[in-house]
Amino acid sequence: MNDKSDKTNATPFLTDIQELRRRARKHIEGGAVTAAYRGDRETVINLLNEALATELVCVLRYKRHYFMAQGIHAEPVAAEFLQHANEEQGHADELAGRIVQLGGSPNFSPEGMLTRSHSEYVEGQDLVDMIREDLVAERVAIDSYTEMIRYIGDNDITTRRMLEGILAVEEEHADDLAGFLSEMDKDFKRG
Ligand SMILES: [Fe+2]
Ligand SMILES: [Fe+2]
Repeated sequence: MNDKSDKTNATPFLTDIQELRRRARKHIEGGAVTAAYRGDRETVINLLNEALATELVCVLRYKRHYFMAQGIHAEPVAAEFLQHANEEQGHADELAGRIVQLGGSPNFSPEGMLTRSHSEYVEGQDLVDMIREDLVAERVAIDSYTEMIRYIGDNDITTRRMLEGILAVEEEHADDLAGFLSEMDKDFKRG
């Protein structure tokens, strides 16, 4: 053994590959969760289940709004409600999938769903009311995803990246809704 290899061994960048393989086999029952996972798994799973409830409540609210949208502005707004409903469903699926990867079980029970959810289910009286309620819900979602992302930090990169992707879509949703509100406001002033 020469000096050079001694130096390399002194400061290994990665854990010895044999050791990594041994640990992967040992904790095979952990699925995608390895020893490199630094998150507090229970807490992360709980947070993801709350986000799942939030998304499911949002799907229901957007569906209701889609079917109830009426008035001269209804068509483009209804189409947007439907698109949001479908995207929230996609978020719910991503969250549920990640919960399972982390060894948890996704909570789809309707019982207590509103309590677990961060956002509310508000039917809304008319189109403007619906858009306003949806905007409130999106802003709540943006806040809670931002907090979750900050909490997770570097401890669970895959979950964080998934949440960042969802957050970006919630911001688009809020932007779309705010756009509708200001358009309709202009129309009211004109008319
Ligand atoms: Fe969502
Ligand atoms: Fe959204």
